[in-house]
Amino acid sequence: MRAWRVHQYGPHREVLSLEDIPPPAPPPDGAVVEVAAAGLNFPDLLAIAGQYQVRAPLSFTPGFEAAGVVRAVGPHSRHRVGDRVVTFAPWGAFAEQVAAVDDALLAWPAPLTAAEAANLLVTYQTGHVGLVHRARLAAGETLLVLGAAGGTGLAAVQLGKALGARVIAVASGEAKLAAATAAGADLVIDHRATDFVAAALAATDDRGVDVIYDPVGGDTTERALRALAWEGRLLVIGFAAGAIPAIKLNRVLLRNIALVGLHWGAYFQHDRATIARTHAALVELCGRGAIKPVVTRELAFADLPDGLDTIAARGVIGNLALTVA
Ligand SMILES: NC(=O)c1ccc[n+]([C@@H]2O[C@H](COP(=O)([O-])OP(=O)(O)OC[C@H]3O[C@@H](n4cnc5c(N)ncnc54)[C@H](OP(=O)(O)O)[C@@H]3O)[C@@H](O)[C@H]2O)c1
Repeated sequence: MRAWRVHQYGPHREVLSLEDIPPPAPPPDGAVVEVAAAGLNFPDLLAIAGQYQVRAPLSFTPGFEAAGVVRAVGPHSRHRVGDRVVTFAPWGAFAEQVAAVDDALLAWPAPLTAAEAANLLVTYQTGHVGLVHRARLAAGETLLVLGAAGGTGLAAVQLGKALGARVIAVASGEAKLAAATAAGADLVIDHRATDFVAAALAATDDRGVDVIYDPVGGDTTERALRALAWEGRLLVIGFAAGAIPAIKLNRVLLRNIALVGLHWGAYFQHDRATIARTHAALVELCGRGAIKPVVTRELAFADLPDGLDTIAARGVIGNLALTVA
C-alpha cells in the first residue's frame, strides 16, 4: 500500500517520503481500516519534526485521524468488515490502510462526508473535552476563543454556541473573521486591527469572559488573562505562536481564576470512557446540525506536503483533509 513515511525528524518538506509498504495486520482486539480521508492537524507538523509531546518511534507513518471502512478484523474485535468508522490513529492515518484497536474505532456520523468525518476527532474532541469536561463551560456564560478560525478554534466556536454560550472570536483578517461568524460567533474581533482585550471587556460591561479557549500561547495568553472574569477559567490548548507563556500566579490568586490544561490524546491512555462519551455527544450534535467540520480544502494523497505548508504558514481556515481512496 502507499503510505507517507518519516525516517528521521525534521521539517516536513525534507523528511516526508511517499512509499510502498506492506499493509498492516489487524490487532487481536482491533481492525484494519481502508482510509477514505485523513484529517490534517497542526500537531502533524510537530510530530514530523520530533517536537510533539509524545515522540513517534522512527520510522513511522504520520497522521492522527481518518475516516474509512473496516476491511479486516482481529479475532476479538467488536467490529465487522464493512463498518464505516472514524479512527484516532497516532500514528498511521496518512496511508491507504491503518490498523487500530477497537477503542480507537468510533462511529462515522451519517451526515458527514469522508473529509468531514476524518476531522471530527482531534479538533472537536479537544473542543468538547476541553469546554465541557475540563473548563465546565455553562449555558449563558461567555467564551472567548483565540485563534478562532484555525482547526481547534473554529471547532470551539461551533461547540461554544451548541453549548449555549455567548462566543467572542479573535482572529486575523477578513476571511478568518468571516469563517468565525459563519461558525456562529456572536462577536468577532480582528486582533491585528483592534485591542482584543479592550474589545472583550467592552462587550461584557467590563465584567470579562468566563472561559478563554487558548490554542495560541505566547504573549497572547498573558494579554488575554486581563479579559478573564472573576472565577474565570483559562483553558490551555496549545502554543501555535511557538512560545510557552509563563503566568504570574498572583494574578490567578487575586481574581480567583483557574488555569486548566488539556492534552486530549492522553485520554486514550488514562480515560477512554471520556473519549467514547464525548464521541456520542459529537455524533448527536452532528445529527441535529449543531456542529459540522469546516473542510476548506481537500488534497490529493500526493499533495500532503502542500497541506502541511498551509498549516505551517498560518494559512488554514478550519480543517484540511487528505483524500486517500
Ligand atoms: N491540547 C490538545 O489536546 C491539542 C489538540 C489539538 C491541537 N493542539 C494544539 O493547538 C494549537 C493550535 O492548533 P490548531 O489546529 O488550531 O492550529 P491552526 O489551525 O494552525 O490555528 C492556529 C491559530 O493560531 C493563531 N496564531 C497566532 N499566532 C500564530 C503563529 N505565530 N503561528 C501560527 N498561528 C498563530 C492563528 O490565528 P490568527 O492568524 O487568526 O491569529 C491560527 O489560525 C497547536 O499548538 C496544536 O498543537 C492541542
